[in-house]
Amino acid sequence: MTSIKLDSRLMTAASMVRKGSSVIDIGTDHGYLPCWLVQNKIAKKAIAGDVRPMPLQSAVNTIKLCGLEDKISAVLSDGLENIPENDGDTIILAGMGGILISDILSKKQWIKKDNIEIIAQPMTHCEKAREYFIENGFEIKEEKGCFSQGHYYCVIRAVYSGKVQIYEKGYIYYGKLKDNEDEFSKEYLKGQLNRLKKRYNALKENSLELKECEYLSEVIKDFERNTNLGVTAKM
Ligand SMILES: C[S@@+](CC[C@H](N)C(=O)[O-])C[C@H]1O[C@@H](n2cnc3c(N)ncnc32)[C@H](O)[C@@H]1O
Repeated sequence: MTSIKLDSRLMTAASMVRKGSSVIDIGTDHGYLPCWLVQNKIAKKAIAGDVRPMPLQSAVNTIKLCGLEDKISAVLSDGLENIPENDGDTIILAGMGGILISDILSKKQWIKKDNIEIIAQPMTHCEKAREYFIENGFEIKEEKGCFSQGHYYCVIRAVYSGKVQIYEKGYIYYGKLKDNEDEFSKEYLKGQLNRLKKRYNALKENSLELKECEYLSEVIKDFERNTNLGVTAKM
């Protein structure tokens, strides 16, 4: 029987899963994450979902190699479309863009229950995932930074509370990562801040999008006020 190994990006997502949970892994591809979670007795069962047949077949193969056919089902599904409601309490969306993650979550209202946890690991546009959580009554409980294959990533765990809270301007860009002291979180945040400054400078140089420029300037000020990152790129 094959024993699954995870890279640090997926391991970080796995570290946020509650013991005894029923996992729905959207965009599973190879299926490593649900297989690892069940093999390590963190998840009692899982659904591995993917929108494309080839990646889903790859997950089916991994599930078979691990001998986990009785605990993990593979479902061809665009986001949560074909995932039965109430069939899981932990929804994981890893390795996709933040815009796609927020689109997938926006389509289903049944995920707005206080026993459901969502673990998101956006490859890009983390702010879009945070924005979805904030505007839809989810509370971000925890965030972790990690480093994998030459890149820094963040992983977010959110739970529905029904309360729409007011956040500071830059929050969707730094989130709870600002409270972390580890190097991965700090490096991730430095990258975010530098990207914001680059965008601001490009718009400003060309005198484009004045409103966007003003907004970015406020975001950057708030980002710098709320994070303690040392030296970053100048504006
Ligand atoms: C880069 S892989 C990530 C695999 C794995 N989750 C990981 O983090 O290593 C992204 C996967 O998401 C799938 N995907 C893209 N859009 C999707 C959607 N709307 N619903 C479900 N899966 C989707 C792709 O087919 C692909 O297999």
